[in-house]
Amino acid sequence: MQSLTIRRPDDWHVHLRDGAMLKAVAPFTARQFARAIVMPNLSPPVTSLAAASAYRERIVAAAGPKTGTRFTPLMTCYLTDDANADEIARGHAEGVWVAAKLYPANATTNSAHGVTDIRKLWPTLERMQAIGMPLLVHGEVTDPDIDIFDREAVFIDRVLGGLVRDFPALRIVLEHITTAEAAQFVADAPATVAATITPQHLHLNRNALFAGGLRPHAYCLPVVKREKHRLAVRAAAVSGSPKYFLGTDSAPHAVDAKEASCGCAGIFNAPFALESYAVVFDEEGALDKFEGFASEHGPRFYGLPLNEGEVTLERRTAVVPDRVVDLVPFHSGGTLGWQMSRSLP
Ligand code: NCD
Ligand code: ZN
Repeated sequence: MQSLTIRRPDDWHVHLRDGAMLKAVAPFTARQFARAIVMPNLSPPVTSLAAASAYRERIVAAAGPKTGTRFTPLMTCYLTDDANADEIARGHAEGVWVAAKLYPANATTNSAHGVTDIRKLWPTLERMQAIGMPLLVHGEVTDPDIDIFDREAVFIDRVLGGLVRDFPALRIVLEHITTAEAAQFVADAPATVAATITPQHLHLNRNALFAGGLRPHAYCLPVVKREKHRLAVRAAAVSGSPKYFLGTDSAPHAVDAKEASCGCAGIFNAPFALESYAVVFDEEGALDKFEGFASEHGPRFYGLPLNEGEVTLERRTAVVPDRVVDLVPFHSGGTLGWQMSRSLP
């Protein structure tokens, strides 16, 4: 197969930031994806309806002009201990908020205002369940005594299993899964539970963090795991199951914030995201499953229409620059065997 044309895909998990960074990165996401679920972990986080509406307008302005394509940001509400169920329901009814994001407090970048005890969210989750608003979960415990490589699996045991039991009709997306345990949990769970998968967790295992020295650009959260976990996540992605779909978790940080004594977590994969995924599906002999993963499973889970239009990827060498808009992109300085026909913004 020399070229691959699929229905226009969506990114079900992306960090677009704000200000100058937003202007720099949004065109890359808009070039590849029709819609994207935009994470609310700005500083301060996007907790109010007014903040979400204003942020959505800034994204449309930043994404549009350079790409000439229509791009629709799908906004999320950042859940805190004092989440207001009425405001969240109102924002969902008004079409501002598509979903709400649960960050356990201090689990990752800008999550200091996250939830300290899931029980505080009970009334909000009941309301979300009633109105059909999905809950997006950063699935890691934060207890310092839990090994960082075990935090996802322990979250599933301690928190997620109970959530799924207590809220049987709540749609839940376990974001950026990284372990065999997560892939298995989602496979065994009812159809109300799904997962997003990033390109980095399909390509990298934890050796990448230490290949010849400390590699800050391979550092993201949840941190990449052992090879057996990478293989399990790959198998899930290419399985054709409607429970797994594309979510890049593209999370840009300035180079000096990555290459620091305490470097930020996050991988900027937006410039070559589709190519990066296509390489994996090709390697797994599963190019026929790519369209479902990229363009169908996500909208069906969210109850949104499939996109019109198509994108084409060609089997030819894409050279990934060392830097893209002054950031180090995923696969920096490398090559990928697939390339999107539309040029970079
Ligand atoms: C994300 C960020 O930088 O906002 N970082 C990351 O490593 N993925 C936060 C997140 O999704 O955990
Ligand atoms: Zn993220």
